[in-house]
Amino acid sequence: MTRLLPIILATIALIASTVVADDDRTPGCGKDVSSAAIGKTQKVSITSSGNNRTFMVHLPQDYDSDEDYPVILGFHGAPGVGLHFEADTMFSMPRWGNGKIFVYPDALGGVWAGMPGNMTTPLEKDLEFMSDLLNYLRNNYCVDNEKIYATGISNGGGFLNRIACDPTVGRNFAAFAPDAGAFTGFQPNGNATCNPYKTPIPIISFHGTNDTTISYYGRNDSIPTPSIPYWLQGWVERNKCTNMTEETYNKTATHYSWTCDGVEGAFQHYKVEGMGHVWPSTEETFSQLISGGQPTVVNANQLILDFFGRWEVEDRGVSGGGETTAATTTTAGPTPTETGGPAGTTAAGGGSAAGRVEVGMWSFGVAVLVGLMAWV
Ligand SMILES: *[C@@H]1O[C@H](CO)[C@@H](O)[C@H](O)[C@H]1NC(C)=O
Ligand SMILES: *[C@@H]1O[C@H](CO)[C@@H](O)[C@H](O)[C@H]1NC(C)=O
Ligand SMILES: *[C@@H]1O[C@H](CO)[C@@H](O)[C@H](O)[C@H]1NC(C)=O
Ligand SMILES: *[C@@H]1O[C@H](CO)[C@@H](O)[C@H](O)[C@H]1NC(C)=O
Ligand SMILES: *[C@@H]1O[C@H](CO)[C@@H](O)[C@H](O)[C@H]1NC(C)=O
Ligand SMILES: *[C@@H]1O[C@H](CO)[C@@H](O)[C@H](O)[C@H]1NC(C)=O
Ligand SMILES: *[C@@H]1O[C@H](CO)[C@@H](O)[C@H](O)[C@H]1NC(C)=O
Repeated sequence: MTRLLPIILATIALIASTVVADDDRTPGCGKDVSSAAIGKTQKVSITSSGNNRTFMVHLPQDYDSDEDYPVILGFHGAPGVGLHFEADTMFSMPRWGNGKIFVYPDALGGVWAGMPGNMTTPLEKDLEFMSDLLNYLRNNYCVDNEKIYATGISNGGGFLNRIACDPTVGRNFAAFAPDAGAFTGFQPNGNATCNPYKTPIPIISFHGTNDTTISYYGRNDSIPTPSIPYWLQGWVERNKCTNMTEETYNKTATHYSWTCDGVEGAFQHYKVEGMGHVWPSTEETFSQLISGGQPTVVNANQLILDFFGRWEVEDRGVSGGGETTAATTTTAGPTPTETGGPAGTTAAGGGSAAGRVEVGMWSFGVAVLVGLMAWV
């Protein structure tokens, strides 16, 4: 009996640690974050494939390193930087950004992989950047590994489609949301490949019929893109979608939704009549402002966050339980000494901080309007 005791104790300890440990938590859980970084957007740089790559991280006002948060990556159009997407969508505002970590990566030279032209970063490099960026986030913040998502506009929408099509990097993401996507490579004579890690890949997409940059009906010139119906058909086949439903709102927006491989609403599309190359919002956005566009009946922020809320990276941590437990046990090591104190203090000043973020983003947005004029 005494000889068995250590084994019994070890077994109990193992079971206890397995029960206590949350498989979805990452090494950044319990790690101190400067209070100056909370509720703000901060620039971070890492080295990836030999390049200095940068991205903006917005931690929510109530950030607490003992709680794991969903992560949403937002990809800008071209040429651009992450701050353009943040200012255009206002995703960092508390009403959208609460309880989530928003990250706005910067493309090298302002353009994401997949666009034609010799100035574009090779796809492998931008995909590697995604892996390195996610590892950085996991190691430095408390991330819910099951809740990582990507949204983006134009060239950024085209790039997140490449991520969704990549069996390795795509595996990190639970769902995708492109707007006005420049799906170069996926036109009828394009040669882009698509091998998603699972079926179906949850996607909600938006596109305006008056988009003169990335036409709803496709273009065959220097930036060849498919017609949106052709691109949708590709995913309908890959995602094994059937039973499309169609609903029109106020004669200006048609919502299509499919049941894919038995999962209702896993693939959705909003076709917005009269909308240009802009972010769809019921309130004026910068991209609407510069193109003379109007607010629409579609509020992409709300629809995207509601859609993301339905999905998790199901395939992780289910079959490979032992491996996940080992990783989590290591991360449980640093004792989480931080209490609710600092977070509470930050929340107390929340109102005025929110105001500063808003004013800051508006003035920044006005300053970059000119820079956005020719984006794709
Ligand atoms: C990477 O770029 C950032 C911002 O442009 C800069 O602050 C940082 O020093 C650079 N890092 C290296 C290693 O060059
Ligand atoms: C890129 O292409 C342009 C035009 O085709 C050419 O003039 C330029 O030299 C190329 N740049 C590089 C770095 O290859
Ligand atoms: C795909 O087409 C592009 C341009 O049309 C070309 O640069 C690229 O090498 C092609 N890739 C493959 C794998 O054939
Ligand atoms: C582009 O070319 C393809 C293949 O030739 C054709 O099916 C498509 O209709 C063309 N699209 C446009 C917008 O002209
Ligand atoms: C598709 O619709 C048909 C007819 O409305 C229905 O019988 C069928 O169960 C639906 N299939 C799925 C997968 O929802
Ligand atoms: C969209 O384009 C059509 C055709 O060019 C035009 O008649 C219509 O006024 C445009 N709609 C908006 C909202 O700009
Ligand atoms: C519905 O469309 C009409 C014009 O067609 C517009 O005046 C009204 O504001 C729209 N409603 C909403 C909720 O956008």
